[in-house]
Amino acid sequence: MKREARSKKRLLPAPCFPAGTSELTLGSIIEEARIINQQRISGQIFRLRLHSPGIARAAHCGQFLMMRVREGTDPFLRRPFSFSRIYPGDGDLEIIYRVIGRGTWLMSQLEPGSTSSLIGPLGNGFELPIDTTVPLAFIAGGMGIAPLLELIAQVVSDRGTKGPEKLRLFYGARTASELLPEDFFRGQGIRVHFATDDGSFGYKGRITQMFEKIMAEGGFRPFELYSCGPLAMQRHVADWALTNDTLAQLSMESLMACGIGACLGCALPAATPGDPESERFVHVCEDGPIFSAGSIKWNKILVQQMHPPTWLFS
Ligand SMILES: Cc1cc2nc3c(=O)[nH]c(=O)nc-3n(C[C@H](O)[C@H](O)[C@H](O)COP(=O)(O)OP(=O)(O)OC[C@H]3O[C@@H](n4cnc5c(N)ncnc54)[C@H](O)[C@@H]3O)c2cc1C
Ligand code: FES
Repeated sequence: MKREARSKKRLLPAPCFPAGTSELTLGSIIEEARIINQQRISGQIFRLRLHSPGIARAAHCGQFLMMRVREGTDPFLRRPFSFSRIYPGDGDLEIIYRVIGRGTWLMSQLEPGSTSSLIGPLGNGFELPIDTTVPLAFIAGGMGIAPLLELIAQVVSDRGTKGPEKLRLFYGARTASELLPEDFFRGQGIRVHFATDDGSFGYKGRITQMFEKIMAEGGFRPFELYSCGPLAMQRHVADWALTNDTLAQLSMESLMACGIGACLGCALPAATPGDPESERFVHVCEDGPIFSAGSIKWNKILVQQMHPPTWLFS
């Protein structure tokens, strides 16, 4: 069955452009968003709610925005963030982010009532399964949890009370303070398996090791995987999916200078079906960030892309 036929995209209202917005590329706009609130969830992880009606009405789970964290040229570049929740009715968006450098530190200082320029929605977004009974696995590494939160909320709402046991989230980070707290997932209609590299919470080891262990034990077999996290983790997830003939949608990370296909800085080597010798690239911001496991040439990704020197961009 063709992939397009077995999946659906949410039918969202056509984007409209209220005052204070302007159209940028097909379907994306620049909008001055108002900060509604800012809350520290744990450690260096924050939740930011923004009023941005034009973008909120057009956004789809898995897409992202580029945010100007402060007026002026410091920092010079906008920062990319996934929609961790979308509230089209209220015209609001939520971002969950971790403070890692100057841009995210400035974000954490934003006060309710202040404004920030956004470009969005950008990228392609996840495809939701048509069949609301199939088992699904979600795999998140670190802040890769952010886009999966909206996806899980939509999948759970489509299913009603039908079997949370069929929905499993495998969620790992280096240490406990880099995880969203367990309470965050209570009553969300999904079973969560936690892992930390240092064993400070949940399984001790990488989330992909834990996932593979549970798969090997049997009892749960996903029809499809959805994952987001560092490139090295995504490579393991893709390997497992390809070896086990399982569909997978992976949200890829890349350093992004523009987010709109202009700088070509987010290129990844792409696989061409039937032509292993072909050399072509996809761009995470325009062609992604969601890719199937087989569409990336994983062995051609450079070590520098797996562990990028972030000081090259600012
Ligand atoms: C499509 C996409 C969605 C993202 N969604 C989220 C999210 O929901 N929550 C979250 O916490 N983080 C997310 N990130 C990562 C986030 O953009 C970076 O953590 C952030 O830009 C770091 O900015 P900084 O100024 O604090 O850090 P610095 O280290 O000072 O950043 C320097 C530069 O590197 C870029 N950069 C640094 N790390 C990353 C990274 N991992 N990915 C992309 N660019 C990076 C910055 O944009 C900036 O240009 C996402 C990245 C992408 C590509
Ligand atoms: S970030 Fe500039 S082309 Fe993708």
